[in-house]
Amino acid sequence: MMMANRLGTLWGVGVGPGDPELITLKAVRLLKTAPVVAFPAGRGGKSGIAQAIVADFLRSHQVQLPLYFPYVHDQKVLTTAWDKAASQVWQYLVQGQDVVFATEGDASFYSTFTYLAQTLQQQHSAAPIRTVSGVCSPLAAAATLGIPLTMLTQRLMVLPALYSMSELEAVLDQADVVVLMKVASVYADAWKILHRRNLLEKSCVVVRATQPDEQIYRDLNQYPDLELPYFSLLIINCVAPTDEIRALGC
Ligand SMILES: C[S@@+](CC[C@H](N)C(=O)[O-])C[C@H]1O[C@@H](n2cnc3c(N)ncnc32)[C@H](O)[C@@H]1O
Repeated sequence: MMMANRLGTLWGVGVGPGDPELITLKAVRLLKTAPVVAFPAGRGGKSGIAQAIVADFLRSHQVQLPLYFPYVHDQKVLTTAWDKAASQVWQYLVQGQDVVFATEGDASFYSTFTYLAQTLQQQHSAAPIRTVSGVCSPLAAAATLGIPLTMLTQRLMVLPALYSMSELEAVLDQADVVVLMKVASVYADAWKILHRRNLLEKSCVVVRATQPDEQIYRDLNQYPDLELPYFSLLIINCVAPTDEIRALGC
């Protein structure tokens, strides 16, 4: 492999929650000018979400580099995949070419980019790495719902995934507003807890926020059995809403 005088930079670029207009000018400039644009590979022959968001910004002369990140918890399988992805990126950096890694939402908020960047740094400590922030899904979902996510002195807590129900109970005791990411697999259990605490009326689910097939569920009393896809999150307002918030509908 030819080593250039200067190493290329790996850019982790948040491309927002789905609507291609919710992407920063900086992200668009980098996406349009990078020799190599990487993204998490889609599944079953379909484009991944980040790939779909950036598709219209890319030109045919740019290398498009799908990187495979498995949806598993096996640390060995994950580490092998991250090692391979980082090596694929390094091949271009070492030739002096920048690689822009497009990641859904924000690049530092529960993003695959973090693992890619950390692995690359372990493999090649000199590799230049930069991050460009994007609109993350809880903020996009609040805008979709037309509610403030937080206001005044409200404490916001975000549960990323794989939370236990006792963890959810503890968080509900402390926070004013709670966001449950990756809620699809635990929705039924979360619903029971919210029901017991009389919080369903003040809870909303947003599916695929800002995407063409976005769905909103308000007042979850009506929805004990929702079958949700992966791109779903739940927002719980734990405090009694003021009249102003009530008027906004959540
Ligand atoms: C691995 S996290 C990625 C978060 C992303 N980096 C962000 O900034 O929002 C994946 C989870 O984010 C949430 N999510 C991401 N995009 C979403 C969207 N457009 N609508 C609803 N939830 C979304 C879902 O809870 C999903 O399971």
